Amino acid sequence: MNSTKLLHAQGWALGSTSALRSAATRRPAAHCAKTAAATRAAPTGWAQIRHKSGPYGYTQAKSLVYSKYGEPRDVLKLHSHSISPSFPQSTVLLRTLASSINPADVNTIQGTYGVKPTFSPLIGTTEPSVIPGNEAVFEVVGVSSSNLKVQRGDWVIPAKTGFGTWRTHALAAESDVLKVNKDGGSSSGGGTLKPTQVATSFVNPCSAYRMLRDFAEPTLREGDWFIQNGANSGVGRAAIQLGKLWGYRSINVVRSRDTPEKTQELKDELTALGATQVVTEEEFLGREFKDMVAQWTCGSREGIKLGMNCVGGKSAQTIAKTLGPGGAVVTYGGMSRQPVALPTGLLIFKNIRFLGFWLSRWADQDVQAKERTVNEILDLVREGKFKDGPTVEVPWNWETEEGVLRDAVQGTLEGFRAGKGVFVFGET
Ligand SMILES: NC(=O)c1ccc[n+]([C@@H]2O[C@H](COP(=O)([O-])OP(=O)(O)OC[C@H]3O[C@@H](n4cnc5c(N)ncnc54)[C@H](OP(=O)(O)O)[C@@H]3O)[C@@H](O)[C@H]2O)c1
Repeated sequence: MNSTKLLHAQGWALGSTSALRSAATRRPAAHCAKTAAATRAAPTGWAQIRHKSGPYGYTQAKSLVYSKYGEPRDVLKLHSHSISPSFPQSTVLLRTLASSINPADVNTIQGTYGVKPTFSPLIGTTEPSVIPGNEAVFEVVGVSSSNLKVQRGDWVIPAKTGFGTWRTHALAAESDVLKVNKDGGSSSGGGTLKPTQVATSFVNPCSAYRMLRDFAEPTLREGDWFIQNGANSGVGRAAIQLGKLWGYRSINVVRSRDTPEKTQELKDELTALGATQVVTEEEFLGREFKDMVAQWTCGSREGIKLGMNCVGGKSAQTIAKTLGPGGAVVTYGGMSRQPVALPTGLLIFKNIRFLGFWLSRWADQDVQAKERTVNEILDLVREGKFKDGPTVEVPWNWETEEGVLRDAVQGTLEGFRAGKGVFVFGET
């Protein structure tokens, strides 16, 4: 059990709004006199009183939750609860600034993801439930002590997966968060970050980073080629940009849009990001593709060393056929829901290696490596060398209705989307 879960299991600080309201009415009236100014002056132990703070400094919070697996539209509920101002030792109160909606979050809600979350009644839901979401940036609005390594005003991200980020506020153990430098501070300096940039800096960029670095044997060098499908996805765009920065050349497969002009627009967009070649699935699966690749790579003996697959089916197979001897196909997603079929000859005669990548496994094994990689990505963002992908912002204010939040999640697995959904928190 991680320390946040432990905190919750001990019943600290969290309760449904109604339960805490009745508890609050039993407290001495003197507590009511605490003003916002007094709270700001108090160094520790009290949350900053915000617009939506309840009586006695209790923070009013809302979380999306689900208590059984299913389609997001059917199972997600918005739950209100309160967080007590007397924090346990080594904890921080967080206000969410932005949180992304990733395909894996939806698969987890559907119950089809590789890891199952633990259902619990910790925030006072009537049935044991889970707070979904894995990627977010929070502002620290309260701390249990002035000795902690994060302090009020800092921005933090979850240290490990399973944090539950689709909520307005969270009480977390200090060890469950990692501080990010929102104002620069790297050796290279640079500009201030936007919450949406930080909230999308982990899942996609770190996946692209690790797959490009860790799977080709020998490791990719300047001038080497890789090929990927789903190239306009968050991961795909990150791979294009990191690849370009590191001197790699890329072949990028996308699905055609509904007009040739829109398809060309998408190709141009990815080329501007740093893609060497962009092809549609039709071109990729066509007879001439082999010759096109031979021409691009000048028939090099090594050929293409790395393929990244998030689609599956015929597309994954064609990636494998495109690789040179000993090349690696890394599968990290299955957007088409088609299985990856492995042609026997590729295994025997070309020794193509088929591998899988799972970011959670990498990040949870080595939190310091996660911190380093995220900070490296954020440095590149600040320096203007790494562009965040297109996003569809979903405002989440105190009054935002459950249905609006649910619909935003439901659409995530539909294809041809304008960008990644990101909850952007306003007046909460
Ligand atoms: N293993 C890991 O650790 C890990 C980490 C990050 C992401 N992922 C996985 O990587 C995949 C992409 O994630 P993301 O966050 O980058 O996604 P995203 O930005 O939401 O993009 C989704 C991508 O999937 C494509 N797509 C959707 N439906 C498709 C279909 N039926 N056939 C072919 N392509 C389809 C989209 O193409 P169109 O624009 O043409 O619709 C788009 O390129 C997901 O499967 C996700 O679960 C895995």
